[in-house]
Parts: sequence; C-alpha cells; structure tokens
Amino acid sequence: MKTVTTHQILNDLYLIRTTDTQLKYFEALWDVPEGMVYNAYLLKTDEGAVLFDTTKANFTEPFLEALRALIDPAEIKHLVIHHMEPDHSGALPAVLEAIGSDVQVWGHPFTKRLMESLYGITPKFQVVKDGTALNVGGKEMVFLQMPWLHWPETMITYMPEVKVMLSGDIFGGYGIPGHIFDDDEEEVHEFLHLAREYFITVIGHYKDYVVKNFAKLQSEGFQPEWILPAHGLVWRNEPSKIVDAYANWAAGTPSQGKIVVVYSSMYGVVEKAIDLLMDALKGYGFDLEVFRFTDDHHDTVVDILGEIPESEAIVLATATYESGVFPLMEHFVDELMHKAAYEKPVLLLSASGWACMAGKQLQQVLEESVFNLVDAVKVKGVLNSESRQAILDAAEKLNAAMLEHRSSQG
Ligand code: FEO
Repeated sequence: MKTVTTHQILNDLYLIRTTDTQLKYFEALWDVPEGMVYNAYLLKTDEGAVLFDTTKANFTEPFLEALRALIDPAEIKHLVIHHMEPDHSGALPAVLEAIGSDVQVWGHPFTKRLMESLYGITPKFQVVKDGTALNVGGKEMVFLQMPWLHWPETMITYMPEVKVMLSGDIFGGYGIPGHIFDDDEEEVHEFLHLAREYFITVIGHYKDYVVKNFAKLQSEGFQPEWILPAHGLVWRNEPSKIVDAYANWAAGTPSQGKIVVVYSSMYGVVEKAIDLLMDALKGYGFDLEVFRFTDDHHDTVVDILGEIPESEAIVLATATYESGVFPLMEHFVDELMHKAAYEKPVLLLSASGWACMAGKQLQQVLEESVFNLVDAVKVKGVLNSESRQAILDAAEKLNAAMLEHRSSQG
C-alpha cells in the first residue's frame, strides 16, 4: 500500500494524504494503535498552484513523489502553513527545496520563527493576519488566525466562493479512515470516537480557545460546506457534525447518567470497595464506563481521557503505593488536570494498609482543581461495616451532586 496518496476533492483542489501505520504513540505520548493520517492539500489555478502544509519527515520522499504526480513543483507559487507541528511540517525543508526559492510562504508571524528554530530555514515569508486574503488565478482565500488550536501559530484558510475551510488540526482525529469523505455513517460514528480522543489529548488543554475561536469564525460569517482538516475525514456531507462535536467536547456537555470510573488495585482491596460503590451507583440508574490499572489489565490514558468530555461525573479510586498515589493513577490524574479539567462532580475513594497518603494527596489535587470534589472516602484494608456505610453514603452524595449539577445547568 502506498503511504502517500492523492485524491481529487473539488475540480481544482486535491488532498495529499499520508497514511502513517508506523505510528504507535502520537507525540511520543498517546497510544494510537489505530495509526493516523496527515492531510495536505493542493489548489491548482491558471496562475500557479498553492500547497497547503506538507507531512511528517519520515514520509518526505513518498510525499514528493505524490506531489510530482499531481504537478511540477516549480508551478507551486504559494505555500500556506496552517501549523508548524512536525507531523505537518517535517517535510517542509525538502518540499521548499523541490519547489524553489521563489515560492511565497504564508503563515502566522510565529511560523517564521518556528521555521528558523525547527529547521534553520528562512524562505520568502508573508505574515498572515486575521482577514488577510490571497487571490491566485481568480481563487480567493482568506486566512484567520486560530491561536492555540493547537499551537500559538495555528490558522485556517477559507475559500468563500466554494465555502471550503482548510482547518489544520481543528476538526481532526486519530485513526486511518477507510474512506476520504464523511459519507459512510458507520465510519463517521467510529471516527467521532477517535476524534474525541484526539480532541482531548491534543487540544483539550486549550479547550477554552475552541469557544473563542469558534466565535471568531461566526463573526466572520464563515459557514463552511466543506471542512478539510489536517487529520482524518474530509467533511462534505454533514460538516456540522464535527463542528458541533468539537463545541460539545470543549464545553464538556455530558451524556446524562454517564459516570467514568477509573481505579487502580494491586491486591484487590480497592477492587472490593469499588465494586460496592459501583453496585450502589448502578442502583441509582447510572451507566458506568470502567477503566482500571490492575495486575492483569491496564487501560490507556487516551482511552480514559476520551470518555471524560461526555461524562456527567467521575469516580477515582486508588491504592496507596509507597507513601503516595499508585503511580499509574498519579499519571492519569496529572493528565486529567492538564487535558480534561471540567467543572464536573468527582468522587474519590482510596485504600491503604496503614496510612492513606494516596487519598490525602489526591484530595488536595482535586480541591485545588475546577472539579467539584463531592466526597473522599478512605478505606483501610478489608471492608468493615463503617467503611461499607461510608461508601454507600458517598454514592448517595454523588447522586445528589449530579442532580444538583443538572438543575444548575438548566
Ligand atoms: Fe497535527 Fe498539532 O499537529
């Protein structure tokens, strides 16, 4: 299978898609066994072509080969850089060399600095501000800065005549879709799951900027009928689906009754306590999504974080390890705070043999966060009548907190 393929999107607009099956950990951090695609685009006109982004460095040669099959690189007069993260810019130095030094590069002011710092290159550069326009061969393009989606220099291109938006990382997702477009309902459903994981791990830390930047898109009157992101599906059938999904994930809009349970248990003490708590929560009619770190199973942080935006509440239960939080749980909570900090109710359960330092430490972290810590139950060893009652009381408190949260949200 070719790693870089080309696909006609509209009459004169092409997708150059890199399929990365070598990828195991996006950003060397996030488990992505599904792989990923990197989308660049090419616009051909009678007065020269415009290339939008490139690809990851590993795929430079097949990218150039695919590009040459579409066009003589010398015909590319403009290169638009939506984002400098190296999954899109790794091939940039070689692509610029193939095109030649006359090419005009367009990007955010910070892009110029990043080209120099990441690659030591200083091509002819045109700074893009909000509303900067480029007209090539009668094709109009308008640029808008979209800071922090996903880096400070990110921006989008809008083509008003055809209502096409090239959106960079925004509206992207993990995975290698079997099709180019969002035409297959089942595939869209599967992709949205991976897009949510991508959103929370890559953009989650900056989710407040989704709201600000989307307001900017609206105030500019951009109403794209085509969305061409740098990862995942091209949206032509129902672009509002991915726009609404991103808006809901940014807001943390919950699926009613969904509780994400994450626990660590080394020898079963936490497991017995969490089983009792989960039975009580099921009794209130909640749907539980359960993830664990145990001696026979580890869930991935990506899979767990992916469920947080649509959760109505979260339960964290941890064993004590040495004098602190079980390390995998500590790592998860750290990422939860960085990537998925929402004003959602949280219940904390912790267990220990002698001193419950894990509970004390996580309680402090949660109390200092935006989460609403509903209760913190500490269990020592086997369950007794006192700890059983404390767990049942905690379930009741969580139920009450969720009802209150619902009514406060209207
Ligand atoms: Fe797809 Fe932030 O790079």
